[in-house]
Amino acid sequence: MAAPYDVIVIGAGPGGYNFAIRAAQLGLKAVVVEKRKTQTLGGTCLNVGCIPSKALLHASELFDEANHGFGKMGIEVKGAEVNLPDMLAFKDRAVDGLTKGIEFLFKKNKIDHVFGAGRIEAPGKVEVELTGGGTETFEAKNIVIATGSDVISLPGIEIDEERIVSSTGALALAQVPGHMIVVGGGVIGLELGSVWRRLGAQVTVVEFLDRITPEMDGEVSKQFQRILKKQGMEFKLNSKVAAIDSSGKTLKVAVEPAEGGDGEELEADVALVSIGRKPYTEGLGLEHAGVATDDRGRVIVNEHWQTNVPGIWAIGDVIAGPMLAHKAEDEAVACAERMVGKAGHVDHNIIPNVIYTYPEVAAVGKTEEQLKAEGTKFKKGKFPFAANSRAKSNDTTDGFIKVLADAATDRVLGVHMVGVNVSEMIAEVALAMEFGAAAEDIARTCHPHPTLSEALRQAAMDVDGWAMQM
Ligand code: FAD
Ligand code: NAI
Repeated sequence: MAAPYDVIVIGAGPGGYNFAIRAAQLGLKAVVVEKRKTQTLGGTCLNVGCIPSKALLHASELFDEANHGFGKMGIEVKGAEVNLPDMLAFKDRAVDGLTKGIEFLFKKNKIDHVFGAGRIEAPGKVEVELTGGGTETFEAKNIVIATGSDVISLPGIEIDEERIVSSTGALALAQVPGHMIVVGGGVIGLELGSVWRRLGAQVTVVEFLDRITPEMDGEVSKQFQRILKKQGMEFKLNSKVAAIDSSGKTLKVAVEPAEGGDGEELEADVALVSIGRKPYTEGLGLEHAGVATDDRGRVIVNEHWQTNVPGIWAIGDVIAGPMLAHKAEDEAVACAERMVGKAGHVDHNIIPNVIYTYPEVAAVGKTEEQLKAEGTKFKKGKFPFAANSRAKSNDTTDGFIKVLADAATDRVLGVHMVGVNVSEMIAEVALAMEFGAAAEDIARTCHPHPTLSEALRQAAMDVDGWAMQM
């Protein structure tokens, strides 16, 4: 029997590791169980998600810029070429540094961790099948399920991670594909599709619905698709992939109308399946422990992150809500605080959402479609980057910012951005919304000149019709 702990955390992703750190700060002794075969901490995000994808997005963006953007600024680059192994090594170094960073933080906070698959035997009891062999049982008053999410595959299509890949395989392709078919025009498809298009692939996105990024504000999706199309990405909307024949040298991909009917066969070197992710609860013993899940397999929790079984809590991708690292982190902090009787809280309406393409997309709060559906009366202000001085001087004028505010109170309800660097601008809006700001508060806040952030101020002014620079 291992040493006594206050809490056993299953999963070392942004949910699990942030929980353990906050719990340690609050005086709880935690042990974190992680089953990843690589025996690294950090979960999906650091190993095969946020971090490696952003490293490749950054490197491929600079390559694209060198080829297509430098010339107009008077910088001559002759023969910029991709050294793919070196680019992948750059990505791997980022992953390695950051996953080791979590080990350091665990040591600093006196958090124990063990590599192996955890299974809940009973409330307060987790059996771990150790990666190195054997089993070990841990007991504690509390258990936190932070097991994250996993790839969804298409029925009848087997992901081999070489030619038919999930995001994990798409982060490590041995060569640039001639033609890549992306199944699903959501975040993963558009980010990783962008990476390989910039490196030279022809990219065709097959999306089931009538628009890409269907969760985003409609006006944003439309302009975003237009920009990606201008960059060379091709789209087949209202379409689905019915089958992939991988018996030949190239993949034969059967694409059909979403409603069914006659389709076409496309040839591709690689197919990326990115149609969403599902909660990861395999082998966790939820049924055995009596932990309730919903119809999508997500662990059900109350507003304090407690499941129906006393002493068992859950956070992150494995529960309802957006599958985002910062959402898992926020829930981790609040859950640890609740565990010690503090008043941890997360406002799920103020979780920013970013797509790290070029340009980026960033949003927080409600979309126009959501406000209309719920019958909220709102005012709208909009400002194009084409009228922003910094965007003009940098020649990065694609995109706009839209501010939605309550018609009666002027309170900011949602902000939607397409443009360069908007990932760094959306936190200002989240902070404003946390403070219950009105659009006028943003409009009357001094923003530095010349910056892209002035476009936000102008959009906020436009809510009351006094945008000054368009
Ligand atoms: P995870 O990070 O999935 O961690 C769960 C961990 O639990 C895993 O390491 C798993 O091995 C372990 N585990 C599961 N079952 C067991 C068990 N029985 N015993 C022991 N261990 C177990 N989000 C963003 O916010 N920004 C981004 O830019 C972004 N980019 C992404 C790019 C890609 C390609 C992908 C796939 C995801 C991306 N995400 C991004 C989403 C983000 O990775 C997740 O929202 C986040 O990792 C969720 O954190 P989590 O702690 O809930 O779960
Ligand atoms: P997603 O939910 O973003 O997009 C899936 C897309 O596939 C949707 O547009 C959907 O309509 C479409 N689709 C579903 N079934 C289909 C089918 N059979 N044929 C064609 N299209 C189909 O899911 P994705 O891109 O797989 O990403 C999973 C999650 O990972 C995201 O929801 C997000 O939470 C997280 N993520 C976040 C990132 C970020 O914050 N920048 C980056 C990457 C992932």
